[in-house]
Amino acid sequence: MTLIFATNNDHKVQEIRNALDSHFEIISLKEAGIHQDIPEPHDTLEANATEKSRTIFNLKGIDCFSEDTGLEVEALQGEPGVKSARYADNEPGFADNIDKLLYKMKPQTNRNARFRTVISLIMNGDEHQFEGICKGAITHERTGTGGFGYDPVFIAEGATQTFGEMTMEEKKQYSHRAKALKKLTAWLKENQNPAQ
Ligand code: IMP
Repeated sequence: MTLIFATNNDHKVQEIRNALDSHFEIISLKEAGIHQDIPEPHDTLEANATEKSRTIFNLKGIDCFSEDTGLEVEALQGEPGVKSARYADNEPGFADNIDKLLYKMKPQTNRNARFRTVISLIMNGDEHQFEGICKGAITHERTGTGGFGYDPVFIAEGATQTFGEMTMEEKKQYSHRAKALKKLTAWLKENQNPAQ
């Protein structure tokens, strides 16, 4: 079964290919010949995920899915949340966003945080959403160089290493994205036309 995954983030494409079995052929935006940046103008992960999948479905008419993820920190009232990619000023990179997060967390003793992923699937024109949550805590400094985004400063509940220290395989045991994907694949296996 072929699905477009509406992202330009190569890490996410790798994680998703790694999580899905070979029955699913995942085509990235680049591979689908789509080079535009898809806007994320809304203030919820759900609305942004819908915007991305609808945009691609309207462009190509092929079944597709998108995901939007945010890091929600308890002591910061859910920040950076839907703004996780743009937390620091001036087109920030991952390092700038982590710097801002660690600075704001300096006085905080409550380090609780969670990653939340929302997947929006458009299948035969209808939308279905799937959520995955990974609870954990923000560390006091970066550890590890693997993964992407906030991985070096996040320790999942039950883990002893940050996501930045884990292999993709290890991160998958805890990850928000893997949990949302599990729901997506279960739904696809139940609902897809076997002829596809
Ligand atoms: P996006 O809008 O879904 O691409 O994600 C927003 C931001 O959240 C990304 O730019 C990353 O900084 C962060 N992020 C998303 N997923 C992860 C993850 O699995 N680990 C660490 N950071 C992540």
